[in-house]
Amino acid sequence: MKTTLKCERSIVAAGIVCLGLVAGCPLPPPPPPPVDLCAGVDCDEGFACDASTGTCVASQSDGFESANAVRGGALYDKWWVVSGVDAPTEDHPFWATQDTNTRTGADTWRCKECHGWDYKGVDGAYSSGSHRSGIAGIFGTTLSAQEAFDLIKTDHAYGEAGLSDDDIWDLAKFVLEGQIDTDAILDGAAFNGSANAGQPLFDSSCAACHGADGLLPPPGAPADFVDFPGLIADENPWEFQHKVRFGQPDTAMPAQFDILSTGQVADLGSYVQTLPTSAVPEGFSNASASRGGALYDQFWAVAGLDAPADDHPLWASRPDMESNTRIGADTWRCKECHGWDYKGVDGAYSSGSHRSGIAGIFGTTLSAQEAFDLIDSDHAYGGTGLSDDDIWDLAKFVLEGQIDTDTIIDAGGAFTGEASAGQTLYDDGIGTNTACAVCHGGDGLSIPPGADPDHDEWVGKLANENPWEFQHKVRFGQPGSSMPSSVAGGGTTQDVADLSTFAQTLPEAP
Ligand code: HEC
Ligand code: HEC
Ligand code: HEC
Ligand code: HEC
Repeated sequence: MKTTLKCERSIVAAGIVCLGLVAGCPLPPPPPPPVDLCAGVDCDEGFACDASTGTCVASQSDGFESANAVRGGALYDKWWVVSGVDAPTEDHPFWATQDTNTRTGADTWRCKECHGWDYKGVDGAYSSGSHRSGIAGIFGTTLSAQEAFDLIKTDHAYGEAGLSDDDIWDLAKFVLEGQIDTDAILDGAAFNGSANAGQPLFDSSCAACHGADGLLPPPGAPADFVDFPGLIADENPWEFQHKVRFGQPDTAMPAQFDILSTGQVADLGSYVQTLPTSAVPEGFSNASASRGGALYDQFWAVAGLDAPADDHPLWASRPDMESNTRIGADTWRCKECHGWDYKGVDGAYSSGSHRSGIAGIFGTTLSAQEAFDLIDSDHAYGGTGLSDDDIWDLAKFVLEGQIDTDTIIDAGGAFTGEASAGQTLYDDGIGTNTACAVCHGGDGLSIPPGADPDHDEWVGKLANENPWEFQHKVRFGQPGSSMPSSVAGGGTTQDVADLSTFAQTLPEAP
């Protein structure tokens, strides 16, 4: 080819005379040296000089063409965990231009921190809130691949931060081909797809790792994982769509970019927005452990219901049918089967007239929902007139209100706190509560307001006779009376130990 060219040029140079007389053609004069447009042009790695223009262009093999938009999307999220380089320690050089977002260090280098999960920066979800930086979005950018590469590598300083040219091409590919208009799949913060169409997508693509309701900690996640799909989809649908399309960097979570269409991402999002946002049911979050503790003692007095007339259904199958001969309402008190120390047959009710042989509930591993269901259905409290709120209160007490009474009561039944600190609490009140002395007298021998005139349950007597019952009454009050709960008043377990140690020094009778 080159030879032919030379010859043609020679022919032109030699003039028309030579045509047809090739054999006798005189030697042509030396050709002028070709103009080398690439002379002195130094291209970066992955680029080659284009001889026709003299500019550097991506060499087809490692540049934009072969870049990976999916990996670019993950880099956009958190590039250092994807590329395996060290996280930056200083702020991104552009960070100094804003002062509304108070994050520092590595966070300021995440593309999403400046440009948003919706790629719209200050014109999108980050227009307000703690992530607002005022920086513009990148959606609809008109940069060329080369311009995007140069901007990310040089202007944005990601080359210096340690990203390779391949990483930066992946980012450029994401910028030009991986973004979607999130407004097309969202109405406000609600996905506008079909939840019915999304359910099979979730079941086939997500449930194996996240559980059918999205509440399973995915493989490799800590047991206390709370960023459930239902929560992220609800609280941050823009982040959700990005994580679905590009995966969660450095985890097993796969990218759906090449698998789901944008419409399917909307369907999936619509379905996931119907899933629970937390493993803790709302009823449980709003429930009161202190009220639950009083219900545990005598539920009908707290809930204002009629006392049950028949025996509790589980009473007929108690392991020890001989020792405890109570019938009717008493058999429905949680404490009658599980004890004031919550340890049932393994605690204070291991012997005596309250022994039923039933196990305790201390250290139960039931979930909130399981505890609710057990109390409501298996234990039949739903049929007694207790409301769902009452049963959530009981579940809350079961999971959060119990203490190990062995930590405040020794084997001989003596409280192990400080009597002097306890006296102060007795005289001045625990937390925000009225002091014991106001209602029971300084020596515990006054009849409390509203009690029968022939009342003979004195503070010192009960503290010594049944310290397990005593700690429960102090912590949750006396059902159906004005006696306050130290738990509700903000008292600690140590306060209860100290107070009760003092109460054991009070006279047991007038
Ligand atoms: C600290 C904030 C910050 C971070 C982090 C950041 N950018 Fe930017 N980006 C800016 C600012 C400011 C501009 C506009 C000024 C400029 O072009 O230099 C911009 C502009 C852009 C543009 C040009 C948009 C257009 O069409 O004009 C693109 C593309 C872009 N950034 C991509 C990225 C990518 C990809 C990352 C992550 C690898 C990233 N940015 C990280 C602040 C940031
Ligand atoms: C192979 C297992 C796997 C599959 C399949 C999977 N994920 Fe994940 N997902 C994970 C892991 C692992 C994490 C990260 C857990 C962690 O932070 O430790 C995660 C994290 C998430 C997060 C939380 C991100 C955050 O902000 O913390 C969301 C949301 C999510 N996945 C949604 C989905 C959806 C929706 C699907 C189906 C399209 C799906 N995942 C499929 C394993 C998986
Ligand atoms: C008549 C006796 C009886 C009464 C009253 C009773 N329970 Fe139970 N409870 C049982 C028996 C028996 C079991 C074990 C078998 C079962 O789960 O049904 C049990 C199990 C439990 C468990 C499960 C413990 C675990 O981790 O396995 C909890 C929690 C519980 N009860 C709470 C309560 C609460 C709260 C009340 C009062 C609202 C109550 N129980 C009243 C007999 C009783
Ligand atoms: C606002 C008044 C009030 C306060 C404050 C109060 N109680 Fe009570 N307490 C009562 C009433 C009323 C009863 C129920 C009396 C009855 O059986 O009718 C009661 C019952 C009790 C009982 C159960 C035995 C009994 O007498 O029926 C104990 C034990 C007890 N209180 C100890 C205390 C202790 C310890 C404190 C301080 C932490 C305290 N109380 C604070 C009013 C109060």
